[in-house]
Amino acid sequence: MSEPLLDIRDLRISFRGPDGTWSEALRGVDLSLERGGVLGVVGESGSGKSIAMMAFLQLLPRGARISGSARFNGEELIGMAPSRIRQIRGKNIGCIFQDPLSAFNPVLTIGSQIAEAIRLHDRSVSRREALKEAERLFEMVSIPQPARRVRQYPHEFSGGMRQRAMIAMALANRPELIIADEPTTALDVTVQAQILDLLADLRKELGIGLVMITHDLGVVAGIADEIAVMYGGKVVERGPTDPVFYDTAHPYTAGLIGAVPTLEGTGALRQIPGTPPSIFTRPQGCSFNPRCERAEAVCLREDPPFAVHGRTSCACHFPLGPSLRVVGS
Ligand SMILES: Nc1ncnc2c1ncn2[C@@H]1O[C@H](COP(=O)(O)OP(=O)(O)OP(=O)(O)O)[C@@H](O)[C@H]1O
Ligand SMILES: [Mg+2]
Repeated sequence: MSEPLLDIRDLRISFRGPDGTWSEALRGVDLSLERGGVLGVVGESGSGKSIAMMAFLQLLPRGARISGSARFNGEELIGMAPSRIRQIRGKNIGCIFQDPLSAFNPVLTIGSQIAEAIRLHDRSVSRREALKEAERLFEMVSIPQPARRVRQYPHEFSGGMRQRAMIAMALANRPELIIADEPTTALDVTVQAQILDLLADLRKELGIGLVMITHDLGVVAGIADEIAVMYGGKVVERGPTDPVFYDTAHPYTAGLIGAVPTLEGTGALRQIPGTPPSIFTRPQGCSFNPRCERAEAVCLREDPPFAVHGRTSCACHFPLGPSLRVVGS
């Protein structure tokens, strides 16, 4: 079997709390992505989606404790020399964030910033050639009138166009992997759909691997090959996209999908009650237990192990079974 493009094993991150004690924000996460594949990482705010990616890109604030492994093309990223990770970031791994306005320098034209990103990794490219390449990239991400647009400043772009420019920037050095952290959250629904289509097309055309982080399962439904659902600093369910939707095992995933099947087949839960735990006040046992309709004594005592269950893998003492879903469905 060929090596995965990205292989994360037992990744753990701790932060020091206000009282000086350490708390684990990421509690042993395993994720992997094949070359050219799309992995959707889904979960509510605070589940650890962003820090998981920022940890191996070395973008976490100083003082965070990191352990575990994250191999990119077989090369270990955790503990890698800063000079080497800087080469990989922007060249082999491109990033797209939620707020493209803060990602661009407001006093420089967007074209010049993309050109600089290209030249940062290859000084043999002239400024002129790099600007031409920026134009070509604008065309690729369907920004109209690219020759004019590369000379404009970030504030002259609408939100959707800025996000396209950010994708162009991420593509500038032909990366093998793009990490998109809530790339469409700030956009209205129509523009959101256009950006998702664009990412799906680029992935197909260029064979780039994509990690798509979102709190909205709907966003990744049409684009991801595999989905990892995170809760309280752990992956609680993982599997190919279809089974995660249609053979859901974890009650939290079912909550995210919007309908928790019950034995009677009547319960339809549109919203998960309660709020996600903070890393400093996480409950004992399964961190989802205060919000889970299926919780029993063991759930308050023991954190469930991650295990294969039907067509997905999940961490739950009482996973949903096929027989439960058939009734009333
Ligand atoms: N510098 C930090 N110091 C202390 N705790 C932190 C720090 N950065 C993140 N955390 C905590 O780590 C947890 C995970 O944060 P993260 O930003 O990864 O969440 P997320 O899943 O990306 O959420 P969102 O959907 O809001 O972006 C949160 O509980 C957060 O409060
Ligand atoms: Mg985040």
